[in-house]
Amino acid sequence: MKHETAIVGQSPLISQLKQLALQVAETDITVLIIGETGSGKEVLARFIHANSLRSDKNFIPVNCGAIPAGILESELFGHEKGAFTGAVQSRKGYFESADRGTIFLDEIGEMPLETQVKFLRVIETGEFQRVGSSETIYSDARIIAATNKNMYQAVAEKNFREDLFYRLRSVELQIPPLRERGRDILLLSETFVHEFELKHKIVFEGFSPDGAEMLMRYPWPGNIRELRNLIESLLVLEKGKYITPELLEKHLVQKNRYKSLVHDPARSEKNELQVIFSNIIQLRQEVSEIRLLLQHVVQARAIAPLLLPDFPEYQPQSYPALQPPPENPAPILSLDDIEKKSITEALERCNGNKRKSALALGITERTLHRKIKAYGLQVHHQVVPTP
Ligand SMILES: Nc1ncnc2c1ncn2[C@@H]1O[C@H](COP(=O)(O)OP(=O)(O)OP(=O)(O)O)[C@@H](O)[C@H]1O
Ligand SMILES: [Mg+2]
Repeated sequence: MKHETAIVGQSPLISQLKQLALQVAETDITVLIIGETGSGKEVLARFIHANSLRSDKNFIPVNCGAIPAGILESELFGHEKGAFTGAVQSRKGYFESADRGTIFLDEIGEMPLETQVKFLRVIETGEFQRVGSSETIYSDARIIAATNKNMYQAVAEKNFREDLFYRLRSVELQIPPLRERGRDILLLSETFVHEFELKHKIVFEGFSPDGAEMLMRYPWPGNIRELRNLIESLLVLEKGKYITPELLEKHLVQKNRYKSLVHDPARSEKNELQVIFSNIIQLRQEVSEIRLLLQHVVQARAIAPLLLPDFPEYQPQSYPALQPPPENPAPILSLDDIEKKSITEALERCNGNKRKSALALGITERTLHRKIKAYGLQVHHQVVPTP
């Protein structure tokens, strides 16, 4: 096994993902990587390439979303001299450059429909023509595609060909969002601290315990990229100082997570919009946290006596982001009710033991304390919610 350390992370799903990636690396199977922005899709694609028999050949990354639709085709397949205005000489496309290597097509959901037709043919036969040429060229490029879009929706809206979608996802690798990776957040922070201590010649005094807890609870909308940027700015701007929650909050993008939307007449319209937007993200995040809490309770129920995994915050099944919507959705419960019920149940199952309950719920003991107080729950050996 080569390059195994390139993907930092020890949470169960990342370990499984690495194993799966190593298995597919040995083959030429087309892979579709799904994950939120900044979650490490390109890192995973490079990892697959580096561990394949093609590792000494080219790895060609192409961001389909960043190349204007009009020129994507000639970028991918190349063009002949005079094929269009400005084509002063013939040029190889990315598929030709990736011959015997790997082509990584990022933001595949942005590929225009006409290009998708040609692309499907390349996947199936390896054949294509340069723009402006009738000569058939063959490329043995291994294809890895990635997306952060809901591809089911793109297919349903006819923006993405269904046959191509199913062909692409011969193997589908899902990268979990950082907020679901538990202690990996601290592990990645350490890696980045080390990297930037060396780069900027700074000695970092570390995070306070509640600072570290805040890192674990923050929703990381920009995932690993956001964490990396945060660590660099913390080290540089705070000059390696000991980081408390107050200092941390100053640097976090989504600062309003735990604050209510208070009307302040002095605030500009732009700021208000930002606060509203941030609160919407917060709500969405809380829904996904509650989904996780529920899964923990369901899983805890299935396991007797209660087993406490190393990474209780994360379970592999907790990332159904791109599944098609259920046909008969369950009635919507209030978020508070769901959370209260989960906490009550966890406390019951753990016989009132808060440490175990917090672990089973995937939250810190401190958060559990706060929520018990907020919901007025009574914790004895028998847990009874107040009416
Ligand atoms: N497991 C990992 N270990 C260490 N660093 C990582 C890991 N995954 C991602 N990174 C770092 O996080 C940043 C974002 O990673 P990457 O570009 O692969 O994400 P992405 O999902 O392709 O993002 P985008 O959606 O914007 O295309 C990069 O700086 C990368 O080096
Ligand atoms: Mg990328």
